[in-house]
Amino acid sequence: MRIVVGITGGIAAYKAPELVRLLKKAGHEVRCAATEHALEFVTRVTLETVSGAPLYSDLFASGRTEHISLKDWGEMLVVAPATANIIGKVASGIADDALSTLLLAFSGKPVIMAPAMNCEMWAHPAVQRNVELLKSWGIRMVGPEEGELACGVSGVGRMAEPEAIASAVCATTRSQRLAGQRWLVTAGPTYERIDSVRFIGNYSSGKMGFALAEALAKEGAEVELVTGPTYLSAETFHETSLRQHIHITSVESAREMYTAATEAFPQCNGAILSAAVADYRPSECADHKLKKNGSEGMHLELVQNPDILATLGGKKTAAQTLVGFALETDNEEANAQRKLEKKNLDYIVLNSLHDKGAGFGVDTNKVTIIGRDGSHKESPLLSKQEVAGLIINTVTS
Ligand code: C5P
Repeated sequence: MRIVVGITGGIAAYKAPELVRLLKKAGHEVRCAATEHALEFVTRVTLETVSGAPLYSDLFASGRTEHISLKDWGEMLVVAPATANIIGKVASGIADDALSTLLLAFSGKPVIMAPAMNCEMWAHPAVQRNVELLKSWGIRMVGPEEGELACGVSGVGRMAEPEAIASAVCATTRSQRLAGQRWLVTAGPTYERIDSVRFIGNYSSGKMGFALAEALAKEGAEVELVTGPTYLSAETFHETSLRQHIHITSVESAREMYTAATEAFPQCNGAILSAAVADYRPSECADHKLKKNGSEGMHLELVQNPDILATLGGKKTAAQTLVGFALETDNEEANAQRKLEKKNLDYIVLNSLHDKGAGFGVDTNKVTIIGRDGSHKESPLLSKQEVAGLIINTVTS
């Protein structure tokens, strides 16, 4: 999203560059607009460096009509810190500098303000009236918080922390398309224990499953993410505010994944099983480290694991959507189609094995999404985030 960060003249302006950095890290494009007083607390160079764009602060700079172009460019305006002055100006319709002019011109799009001021100023009836008025127009207030203020006293007036403001921004940008829905995603490999220190595993990184979970949460869904052992965690999700919508259950073996997935599935609108589940496990797991037995070879007896996808296919109701993955080496499409029917799926995502950069471990993937209805969508080589977006759009439309 394209976000304009407006900065006004309070001591908390020193935190604005951190907010800009967090928003950029979350994938947003940012431009800054500052009042003259804001530049007493934070420099133009700092704001231009962190945002990577020229600062808008002078209404009369020659040939500039930024209050018009920035209002068209920006999809959201975040004022942090917002002083009593800027709140009062907007409430009264005053436009006497670059930021207040932009604020009045920025109609029909979300505006968030993070007020920051002395606690007595905040408590003043004029400020409280103005804040209520702005709220009634749809402007969202984040904070202020209670704590120690720059003037040495304690009270309500501290600007909310940049993380909290960035979270509020991300929550506002979260689509509501899948609001009220719950989806199950499986990710990563499974480890099948041989003895107390060894296992049978595979090279799955879990990146595709984590990207699917994030893409679902971004569309407004709650996600149950059941993952085998990976290096990934909630910290992997690009948008920090989405973390609260993705409930992670970590498992090790196929049987543990089976238990977690079959328990979660009845409460879900759909499931996407992207985990690379071991088809077999050792029939026995030794509780000590197995020793060399003196002979040249050794036999490991394997028994079949439950097929989670096929089990969910058997339990699926007409209202639920079930999506599986397939990695085939020959007759790819025909085999994927057969799997789709046999396991009672709505969609199967065929991973390409022919393209460098697709599949296990890497950050990119190339897939074909085959639908029960005969639909067929082939992607180019894309990042796993982009592939996840494409899969989610296809299976939830
Ligand atoms: O039959 P195959 O293993 O090729 O099917 C792959 C699909 O089935 C993937 O979606 C995988 O997550 C799922 N699967 C499963 N449980 C297994 C084996 C595979 O859920 N035991």
